[in-house]
Amino acid sequence: MKVDLLLIHAGQLLTLAGPAPRRGPAMADLGLVRDGAVAVRDGQIVAAGPTDQVRARYQPEQELDVGGRVVLPAFVDPHTHVLYAGHRIDEFEMRLRGATYQEIMAAGGGIMSTVRATRAATDEELLRQSRARLARMRAQGTATVEVKSGYGLDVEGELRLLRLIPRLARESGLRLVATFLGAHAVPAEYAGRAGSYVDLVVNEMLPQVVGLAEYCDVFCDEGAFALAQAERILRRARALGLGLKVHADEFASLGAAELAAELGAASADHLLATPATARARLARSNTAAVLLPGTSFGLKSDRYADGRAWVDAGAVVALATDCNPGTAPSESMPFTIALACRMMSLTPAEAVTAATLNAAYAVGRAGVVGSLEAGKAADIAILDADDYRELAYRFGSNLVHQVMVGGKVD
Ligand code: NIG
Ligand code: FE
Repeated sequence: MKVDLLLIHAGQLLTLAGPAPRRGPAMADLGLVRDGAVAVRDGQIVAAGPTDQVRARYQPEQELDVGGRVVLPAFVDPHTHVLYAGHRIDEFEMRLRGATYQEIMAAGGGIMSTVRATRAATDEELLRQSRARLARMRAQGTATVEVKSGYGLDVEGELRLLRLIPRLARESGLRLVATFLGAHAVPAEYAGRAGSYVDLVVNEMLPQVVGLAEYCDVFCDEGAFALAQAERILRRARALGLGLKVHADEFASLGAAELAAELGAASADHLLATPATARARLARSNTAAVLLPGTSFGLKSDRYADGRAWVDAGAVVALATDCNPGTAPSESMPFTIALACRMMSLTPAEAVTAATLNAAYAVGRAGVVGSLEAGKAADIAILDADDYRELAYRFGSNLVHQVMVGGKVD
């Protein structure tokens, strides 16, 4: 059979072939093939396996000998706020001097300061800045990125962000998944009237985001939205056919993790303050636990989600950068993996599964990306390394040699 491309001689080919998502001990199974090859046709994988076997069956237009490098599915980053303008370096310095994230937020900084910058930016400027972030993500091995709104916080502002996402996808060449996060913060105009803002989200925003967003997310926490408000928004979103995500238990446990499980959310994210009973409940469900170690690091906090406990409980654990200007100005899934191994006690293999196959599952893309097997998109990362564990072991340097999205190199 003729194919467009045959990638050959991967020292370690991590296929992650098999059912998704992975839980518990299965998270350590990377489907590792030594001296592996991948055959690609029309942007899709037609076969992945040992080089001699794949080579015997396929005649390629082009052959790419990767010379013993590690080859794995390109990363999926299932939780980002990458579409925003400006930065928050001043707040970062304030936090270095001891102010907390929530104090800054209560004083009108935090999310609201990025809302002001985003509202003031032109579409062109917003796209330019966001494209640069996505390019850095791609350079570090990411091909699929979930992108949340949430820095508009009024009807037009939220719709505008969601409408820009398809253009951002075209211009960046990455696969983007759009999430509506109108309930990211109560905007200054509604200070003291959170209920009225929730009315606006439910009655005005949600009906209009259908067709623009695949998921609806709510920041349910102390200083953000209460459990009953989150439930109201999420139930309405679900009735409108949107998938659900929840920023749950980042600072305090309001019951958001159980709510996510109860409503059949695709994921509950953060999960630092989740009590053991709620963890067990979520672990029994099909809701992914998306952990964000870069956020704890970004906040200079010593509190991390207990990744080890989440894996051992049997939850579908995924990892994401949380890329945002306040708590996690990071575009790097490899750094996220390095942190997850050190600060959450995941093994390198578990962390790789969490950053690929389970991350794809968390954004409803496990049928399309996240593993290297026939029928999936040829989204492939090639590392300048001969052992995949270098992803966890090294940090601060970029091991990514090449990234393919749909069989295409940059
Ligand atoms: O996931 N927790 C809420 N939202 C973001 C922070 C966004 C910001 O500070 O701008 C997060 O950490
Ligand atoms: Fe977030």
